[in-house]
Amino acid sequence: MEIIEAVKARKSIRGYLDKPVPREVVAQVLSLAIRAPSAMNTQPWEYYVLAGDVLDQIRKENVEWLRAGNIPQPDHLVVGWPNDSVYRRRQVDLAKQLFSLMGIAREDKAARMEWLERGFRFFDAPVAVLVVSDACLSEGGPLMDIGAMLQNLCLSALAFDLGTCIEDQGVMYPEILRKLVGIPADRRIMMAVAMGYPDPDFPANAVETDREPAENITTWFGFGDGE
Ligand SMILES: Cc1cc2nc3c(=O)[nH]c(=O)nc-3n(C[C@H](O)[C@H](O)[C@H](O)COP(=O)(O)O)c2cc1C
Repeated sequence: MEIIEAVKARKSIRGYLDKPVPREVVAQVLSLAIRAPSAMNTQPWEYYVLAGDVLDQIRKENVEWLRAGNIPQPDHLVVGWPNDSVYRRRQVDLAKQLFSLMGIAREDKAARMEWLERGFRFFDAPVAVLVVSDACLSEGGPLMDIGAMLQNLCLSALAFDLGTCIEDQGVMYPEILRKLVGIPADRRIMMAVAMGYPDPDFPANAVETDREPAENITTWFGFGDGE
């Protein structure tokens, strides 16, 4: 797949076929992902790749904790935005689009809760990749490197017909992950990626998120065209 084609084709997939992904395929995707640049080539990332019973158990416990009202305490820095900001508007636009595609009415609390739980279930994907980072690194330092690696991962997955969704919902309860897959205390659990073969009939997979055009967010200097 051409690079431009892949960049345009990548989107977050929130519904997957019930079809396992071979371990060798995931391994190839991860090998491509780690070709990403990182500051001073520090490569501040490690993976825990989950499937099968252990992933199902994590889904179950994540949902139980969510239903019990446990306050999420993720290891990673959480981004916030003011209520009256463009960022909030974009978040609301996304939610509206997803709910509309899924036929979830605004006042339907049960359906909204089920949608939320879906994120905590890694969208029922056959594979979840957890990205962890050494806690000796500064909290924000590895974020850019991990972001570059994650984009590589999502793009590379396309070459194997795999869909992905980067998601922090899956790592909102680090204690569950530490307990079930033995992630040591000296590792920060930074992000999850749900991965699998996209379900073409899953309504939310038709989401088309827009972008503020680059011309609106770019200031040019020195191009000699009077700007
Ligand atoms: C750091 C990060 C965290 C995200 N967490 C979630 C999440 O918890 N749940 C979810 O449904 N999508 C999550 N997403 C996906 C974004 O909603 C998605 O990338 C954005 O809406 C743009 O849509 P696209 O990926 O389809 O282009 C996350 C993306 C990033 C980069």
